[in-house]
Amino acid sequence: MGPAWGLFVVLKGIFEGYGDPLFVVTDAVVRRKVYPLVKPLLPAHKLLVLPAGEGAKVLDEVARIWTWLGAQGADRQAVLVALGGGAVSDVAGFAAATYLRGIRWVAMPTTLLAMCDAAYGGKTGINLGGAKNQVGAFWAPEAVVSEPRWLETLPYGELLSGWAEVLKHALLQGPEAWARIRTMECDDAAGWPYAIALSQEVKQRIVAEDPREQGLRRALNLGHTLGHALEGFFLHAGTPILHGQAVALGMLGEAWVAHRQGACGAELLAEIEEAVLCQYPLLPYEKADIAALVRLLAKDKKRLGTQLRYVALHQPGRYDIDATLTPAEARQAFAYLM
Ligand SMILES: NC(=O)c1ccc[n+]([C@@H]2O[C@H](COP(=O)([O-])OP(=O)(O)OC[C@H]3O[C@@H](n4cnc5c(N)ncnc54)[C@H](O)[C@@H]3O)[C@@H](O)[C@H]2O)c1
Repeated sequence: MGPAWGLFVVLKGIFEGYGDPLFVVTDAVVRRKVYPLVKPLLPAHKLLVLPAGEGAKVLDEVARIWTWLGAQGADRQAVLVALGGGAVSDVAGFAAATYLRGIRWVAMPTTLLAMCDAAYGGKTGINLGGAKNQVGAFWAPEAVVSEPRWLETLPYGELLSGWAEVLKHALLQGPEAWARIRTMECDDAAGWPYAIALSQEVKQRIVAEDPREQGLRRALNLGHTLGHALEGFFLHAGTPILHGQAVALGMLGEAWVAHRQGACGAELLAEIEEAVLCQYPLLPYEKADIAALVRLLAKDKKRLGTQLRYVALHQPGRYDIDATLTPAEARQAFAYLM
């Protein structure tokens, strides 16, 4: 009895009691790389294939899912399955939230980022007019099925992107998780089951305390204040970088600020520096670009009036979600990251 049998039993348990057919939405790459492994384990289903990547997160593709469901006679009892990365789960989850005012859906994430982050928390949505996640809904999946072996075909860059969230979750969890994760490498398959289980636990715990992002959930923004500015800068420069690379370097920059403010000890800062820089290269910006990076921070959704906010790490598992940083501190942090 191989591992596929175990997965078959899990899927059977989840899908038992759901009417058939299931409606499976995936993307063109996952259709080739993962769907062949899953197809024999799924009950009777229809399949819709979207473009890979952010091209799936557009209104036209949502309309295509709605129209397809309608044409297949999907009713209120229908169950949508999102098989793919965060782009597929965001758009398919949003279609499920809105079709017939909401039908059930199941996430089957196939990227490290989706297994560790996007499939949990109930946020669904699409991009609009160049703005990320401009339209969406909170609509949690009924179940999430993760199988680490599906990551075997995922390119290294995508693993690296998801790993930044794993580092973040370990820092939010506590000393034991951080000690274990900080020496692991993103492409070491032996570490995936622990990294995924840890991330699910941390994200689900924090989301359960604050499902609508009113307060505590801001902890999940660790690294994202400086990270979003870095991501935005390189996007505008026409040389986009991986979200995970921006978040990893953002976490390091923010730990440096927290250290300067007396919150984060030198030892933890050194550990974060080692964990980040051994996998993520520094970014090619120059001193003259720092003013533009700081200007991007002023557009951060998390700011309070003119105050820049970030999550200040004190120790693994201890942090302040209402910390602030000055433009001068931000400038120095970007200089430190060069
Ligand atoms: N809803 C949330 O809470 C949340 C959280 C984080 C990110 N997101 C969203 O998730 C999206 C990014 O997700 P992502 O990083 O998973 O990217 P993605 O879904 O775009 O997938 C990245 C690439 O990997 C391919 N791929 C997926 N699984 C594969 C596999 N097993 N083998 C080979 N190739 C595979 C995809 O086809 C795609 O080309 C963004 O749109 C982001 O806004 C949402």
